Amino acid sequence: MAPFAQNGSMSDTLPYGTGDASYQAAGGIDGLRHLVDDFYRLMDERAEAAALRALHPADLSASRDKLTCFLSGWLGGPRLFAEKYGSISIPSFHAQWPIDEALAESWLSCMAGAIALQDYEPAFADYLLAQLRVPAQRAVQASQNRHKSGNPT
Ligand code: HEM
Repeated sequence: MAPFAQNGSMSDTLPYGTGDASYQAAGGIDGLRHLVDDFYRLMDERAEAAALRALHPADLSASRDKLTCFLSGWLGGPRLFAEKYGSISIPSFHAQWPIDEALAESWLSCMAGAIALQDYEPAFADYLLAQLRVPAQRAVQASQNRHKSGNPT
């Protein structure tokens, strides 16, 4: 059976991934800002995430806002990234860097740590991490296609 949002909002009869159920389960925009703050703080602090951190600018404020805005629309809430920054394709955008499985696991591990720090329903925590794996894997695929030798496009 699909996990159901338990957040007392209009969405509480909808499974995650339907309407804005996931956005509400994440605590709306304030919840997402909190999640993304924790995510980048962990990336900054964890020695094992140093290679991932090095790809990012020294000042993470813009990165924080962009990821928060993206996750808002991606989880069925307001499409803030499109409104503020325009359209984005996660795989093609990330293909500018050579992203391998290890970097993707590093990203997902910081996200797993950040998710664990939130007051989420356990079913939503599991759902969110599983869903994030999909664009992370697509980013790896697009990056490897672009960076494999003999194909510098
Ligand atoms: C697979 C591992 C990933 C790596 C190594 C990675 C790395 C990066 C880097 C280096 C930036 C640039 C930061 C900046 O200039 O502010 C970035 C931006 C971004 N990433 Fe990722 N990322 C990964 C996965 C993801 C996933 C899974 C998502 C979405 C769910 C995502 C969403 C974004 C967004 C929305 C931006 C801002 C785009 C922009 O500047 O217009 N990333 N990422």
